Amino acid sequence: RASITKASASRGQAPRPSDEMQALVLVGGFGTRLQPLTTDRPKPILEMVDRPFFAYMIDWLASHGVEEIVLACGFLPDQMQAVLGDGSPGGPKLRYVVEPEPLGTAGAIKFAAPCLQDRFFVLNGDSLTDLDLTALWDFHLDREARVSLGLYPVDDPSEFGLVELDETGSVRSFTEKRDGAGPGLISAGAYVIDHEVIDLIPGGRKVSIEHEVFPLLVDDGLYGLALDGYWKDIGTHDRYREACWDILEGRVSTGVEIHRDGVFISPEADVSDGAEIGPRAVIGPGCRVGTRARITDSVLLQGCEIGENAVIDGSIFSPGVIVAKNAAVVNRVIGSNEFIDA
Ligand code: GTP
Repeated sequence: RASITKASASRGQAPRPSDEMQALVLVGGFGTRLQPLTTDRPKPILEMVDRPFFAYMIDWLASHGVEEIVLACGFLPDQMQAVLGDGSPGGPKLRYVVEPEPLGTAGAIKFAAPCLQDRFFVLNGDSLTDLDLTALWDFHLDREARVSLGLYPVDDPSEFGLVELDETGSVRSFTEKRDGAGPGLISAGAYVIDHEVIDLIPGGRKVSIEHEVFPLLVDDGLYGLALDGYWKDIGTHDRYREACWDILEGRVSTGVEIHRDGVFISPEADVSDGAEIGPRAVIGPGCRVGTRARITDSVLLQGCEIGENAVIDGSIFSPGVIVAKNAAVVNRVIGSNEFIDA
């Protein structure tokens, strides 16, 4: 089994030489914006279409040559390890580091320092993406950077911080979130970092890498590169659902078979002949859908039961939700095992 490290990290330890490509994935957050889906299940193992979300991350990292993934955990690490184990045969090895309390994005890196090599990727653990990490790694080496940020172009950056570059790709500034800023580049939460940067992170408290460390490196080794591909932070209800349709309809490259109508019905679900499913629906394993029920634009995680004639639209159901016959559920996100009456 993979090791779970609970000891506090020692400081000043020499990094391991980069004999294999390594990625540290930050998965210690509580996923509060996705509650109630994440109340009793950490975001990385929330099912997305037909597999736990983290499986997409593993495939993406493996496709760029990553051989070891260190998961920086905090919330419900045992569940994560029970589902993901130490990785699949032939895939990257998984290793777990557990913070005693949330240390923030930089604190988590510092805490994991003894496991980390002299250069490695860091990824936020809640992005669905196929961005070109190989290009980012090559760029980092070419610029002899200390940190290289993977950037993603957006039309409306109001929810994110904007990153501005000079013509060499050196980061000139970060601009905080504001409305009406126009198109720009945002940090995709994917970067290459040299181990020596960890010495800049203050110890013993929560530290944000975006707010406290990156600004120190402007004009001093901080670069950014706009990457090709798809990127979405899946941390809100709407984006979680959109990500399911993007997977099914083929806007992001994953191992899931493409279904243009955005419908996935688990082979272990029992859907009555008279039910209407889709466009856009995920029906998880163990679900039962009664006759004449209509399900559109919705995700039903495992073991939900939908009574006959019920209408479900724009909703996400945690495992074990039961909907009475003739009920209508529109634009709702429901917690585990709830019962919805007509
Ligand atoms: P919200 O509570 O909804 O904001 O979600 P979150 O905290 O899970 O996600 P957020 O977008 O704030 O964080 C980005 C990524 O960093 C997520 O993958 C989190 O799991 C991870 N993360 C955030 N804070 C910590 C931390 O203190 N420690 C570790 N190890 N990971 C963290």
